[in-house]
Amino acid sequence: MSCTIIVGGFFGDEGGKGKIVAHVAHKDKPSIISRGGGVGPNAGHTVKVGGEKEYGVRMIPSGFVFPDARLFIGTGVLVDPRVLKQEIEYVGVDGRIFIDGRCSIIEEKHIEQDRANEYLSKTIGSTGTGCGPANVDRVQRVATQAKDVPELAPYVIDAAQEVNDALDRNETVLLEGTQGGFGISLYWGTYPYVTSKDTSASQIAADNGVGPTRIDDVIVVFKAYPTRVGEGPFGTEMTKEESHSLGIEEFGTVTHRERRIGCWDGKMARYSAMINGCTIGAITGIDNVDEACYGGATEYSQLTEKALAFIRQAEEDIGVPVKLISTGPEMTQIIDIR
Ligand code: IMP
Ligand code: MG
Repeated sequence: MSCTIIVGGFFGDEGGKGKIVAHVAHKDKPSIISRGGGVGPNAGHTVKVGGEKEYGVRMIPSGFVFPDARLFIGTGVLVDPRVLKQEIEYVGVDGRIFIDGRCSIIEEKHIEQDRANEYLSKTIGSTGTGCGPANVDRVQRVATQAKDVPELAPYVIDAAQEVNDALDRNETVLLEGTQGGFGISLYWGTYPYVTSKDTSASQIAADNGVGPTRIDDVIVVFKAYPTRVGEGPFGTEMTKEESHSLGIEEFGTVTHRERRIGCWDGKMARYSAMINGCTIGAITGIDNVDEACYGGATEYSQLTEKALAFIRQAEEDIGVPVKLISTGPEMTQIIDIR
């Protein structure tokens, strides 16, 4: 009986924000999980299910692992029909995935434009998935909408109406931030090294047609050691030698580029929590802070003093309690004191 937003607090790839979504979905049992607040298939989410299978999804909400929810793609999110179709088959969600008819479509020409554009591909480090050019077409008012693509007809709905109707019936709805994180927001991020849209919690609500008064909680996911892919400023970035010596090495879900790795940035965390209206903090990768925390802990009392000190600092920075702590890649490796 609530509407919760989950959003990334730093530069994206919040150490399995997808996994936090999957966990929250299993615990809160939403009737709808809907994606918003991001651009489109430039964002990748990794979800590990049942010990062996790891899924990387770019269009489908990462909450798909919770089988009882309908899955939506909100109005403001770009849809690449080819990626969508592939993922529907790969993940097996036909029959419960729907997209808003007003979503703009990414066409082959957008991908070509993205990749051929030196400024976007080299200077900004775009993912080359056609998102920026597709958003340009939307602004120019020449974009194709999902409702005008016959092959998408089986999936097209009024997602905003469905979400608001569910809330009227007192059901639980999860709004999942499509995009990496706060730092790549078109407005709040490190402009111009950003993506082509706002990525904040307000945008996630807006993309789903949910007014601000209907949001109950905003979970902002922070990575203990933030990462960034692509170009742009990264205040607390470490050298590769430093991060490798800490045993941290990561690659992007979409582009497979090696991620840049940094230390906790309290100042950015505070600002991000403010703009996102954070009510609940989530920390991922606590096992990078202290290896001894890997996997097993299900309660605060099982964390080490080093990890607890880290969490206390994070709480001071973001100004609200940290109630979710991820201790490993598995969906079950989490502390949840909500
Ligand atoms: P674009 O959105 O593909 O044009 O990429 C613009 C910038 O945002 C590049 O630096 C990308 O690496 C970054 N970016 C886009 N989407 C994501 C994401 O989901 N996670 C992390 N970085 C992203
Ligand atoms: Mg990602």
